[in-house]
Amino acid sequence: MATFEIIVGSVLGASEYVADALEGVLVAHQHKARIHLQPDINDLDQTAIWLVCTSTHGAGDLPDNIQRFARQCQQRALDSVKFSVVGLGDSSYDTFCNGAVQIENILKKAGAVFIQPAVHIDVLVHPIPEDLAVKWLEEWLSDPQLN
Ligand SMILES: Cc1cc2nc3c(=O)[nH]c(=O)nc-3n(C[C@H](O)[C@H](O)[C@H](O)COP(=O)(O)O)c2cc1C
Repeated sequence: MATFEIIVGSVLGASEYVADALEGVLVAHQHKARIHLQPDINDLDQTAIWLVCTSTHGAGDLPDNIQRFARQCQQRALDSVKFSVVGLGDSSYDTFCNGAVQIENILKKAGAVFIQPAVHIDVLVHPIPEDLAVKWLEEWLSDPQLN
């Protein structure tokens, strides 16, 4: 059994739906999971697996609600953290899923271990993004190292 911290970056709510679906899968697999809609690094277990689930807004920016968290991560050493990223974006923007890429790079720079390749979900192709996110997570959870 593993513990997951699901860290949400969302403006319009789509990433929150994805986070809820991911939490459901984790619990069904007997893992522990907590969703953070206003993420603050001080509330997070640094021995847990951090699953960042974020969209991209503005000119390739992270949503406002996750920007403080991104800044906090730039000021900490996070060597004990393991993480992966679910990005939501729209491929009609040149900055497709740039927010997800930004947070991946910030966490890597802080020393966190990127234990599973990110999934970048194009909402033009996947109008129900939770379907692809759940499939990605189910595949990851079948990795014997997590069980
Ligand atoms: C004003 C605006 C700007 C956006 N900018 C980007 C962008 O730069 N890159 C991208 O991949 N998607 C962009 N998107 C698409 C959103 O990331 C996508 O709709 C996503 O599903 C929103 O998720 P959320 O509801 O969790 O915020 C933008 C959407 C809006 C409305």
